[in-house]
Amino acid sequence: MSISERVKKSMEEGSWIRRMFEEGTILKQKYGEENVFDLSLGNPVMKPPPEFHQELRRLAENPIPGMHRYMENAGYAETRTAVAKQLSLEAGINFTKDDILMTCGAAGALNVVLKTIVNREEEVIIFAPYFAEFINYIENHDGVAKVLPTDEQFIPRLDVLETAITARTRAVLINYPNNPSGAVYSEDFLHQLGELLKDKANKYGKEIFLINDEAYRNLVYNGVKCPQIWPYYQQSIIVTSHSKDLAIPGERIGYIAVHPDLNDHKELMAGFAHCNRILGYVNAPALMQHLVRHLQAVSVSVAEYQRKRDFLYSHLTEMGYSIVKPQGTFYMFPKSPLEDDIAFIKELRRWRVLTVPGRSFGSPGYFRISYCTDDGTLEGSLAGFRKVAQKLKLG
Ligand SMILES: Cc1ncc(COP(=O)(O)O)c(C=O)c1O
Repeated sequence: MSISERVKKSMEEGSWIRRMFEEGTILKQKYGEENVFDLSLGNPVMKPPPEFHQELRRLAENPIPGMHRYMENAGYAETRTAVAKQLSLEAGINFTKDDILMTCGAAGALNVVLKTIVNREEEVIIFAPYFAEFINYIENHDGVAKVLPTDEQFIPRLDVLETAITARTRAVLINYPNNPSGAVYSEDFLHQLGELLKDKANKYGKEIFLINDEAYRNLVYNGVKCPQIWPYYQQSIIVTSHSKDLAIPGERIGYIAVHPDLNDHKELMAGFAHCNRILGYVNAPALMQHLVRHLQAVSVSVAEYQRKRDFLYSHLTEMGYSIVKPQGTFYMFPKSPLEDDIAFIKELRRWRVLTVPGRSFGSPGYFRISYCTDDGTLEGSLAGFRKVAQKLKLG
C-alpha cells in the first residue's frame, strides 16, 4: 500500500460532502446543470463585494515595492493592525497586531493552533454536530477528538462537559455561528462555559484553551450581533477567515486572534508563527493580506442569505420537515424523516437534490442543506423535497 494506513482510514471514512459534490458533477454531466439541485457544499455562489475588486485593481495598477516577497511568518504588521482595529471595535476590548496572526484560511488557522498547543494524545473536546474536518485537524497533530452532545437546539450540553473534562483535556473547540446547524450561542451560555472552564483549569492546574471557530461570525440574521467569547474566558483564541464574509474561499486568507491577556501570550504567538512556517504554509498569501487590510468592515449581503434561509425554511417546514431555525451561516440541519439519514439523502438524490447526511457531522438522524446557492437551485429543489415528503407522509 502506497499511502499510510492513517490516511487510508481518513479517506475511507472521508467526507460525504466531497462525495456528494463529486456525484453532483456526474449528475450534472448526465442531466444538465439546471436539472441538478446541489445543496451539498458550502461554496458560496455570491460574488465578493465590489470593494474587493476595486482594491484588486488598485493594487495591480499601483504595485507596492516588494509586495510579492517573503515576510514575517505572522503576516504583515499593517494587516494585523487593521484586523486588530476592527476586532477592537466589535469586541469592546483592545487588540493590537501582537494578538493577530494571518493564516491560510480558518482551516490553516486551526491547524496552526492545534499544532502549537496539543501534546500527543491530549484531548480536544468538540460537540456534535461539528464541522467534519475538526476530527482530521485534531488527529493531524496527534490529539484525540472527544465528541460530546448538544441539546435539541444544538447548544453544547454543559452538564456533560462538566464530567467530560479530565487532566488530559487541552482545549474545548466550539464553532458558532455553527456549521452545520446555524446555531448562535448566547452570552449567558458563554458565561457559564467560561466559568466551567475556569473551575476545571484551576482543578487540574493547567491551561485549558477555549477555541472558537468564527468562520461565519458576520453571517447572523435578524440584526442579531454574534456574541463574543472574550469577556468570558481569558485563555481564548479565535480562528476565522474571509472565505465566507467576503466570499473568497479559494483565496485562503484568514487569521488567528488571541485574548490580549492570555497567559504565555508571547510564547504562544511565537509558537503560532513557527507552526505557520513548519506546517508549510510559511505565511498567508501576500496579495490577499494587502487587500483585506482595507476590507475589514466590508461583507457580502447578509440580507441576501437571510432571504434564502427564510425561503427554504418556510417551504420545508410547510411540507412537514422538522427544522431548528438557523440564526446564522448558510446551512440548515433538519431532522431526517427516516431514521437512516443515508437512506433519506438517497431518496432526495433520486430527485437530483443533493444534501449531506448528518452522520458526517457526528449526528446521524439529521441532514445538512447548504443554501449559499443561486435562487434557481433553491426553487428547483422544492419539487424533490415535496415528492419525498409526500412519499414519507410528512406534515
Ligand atoms: C466551521 C468551519 N470552519 C472552517 C472552515 C474552513 O474555512 P476556510 O475556507 O477559511 O479555511 C469551514 C469551511 O466551510 C467551516 O465551515
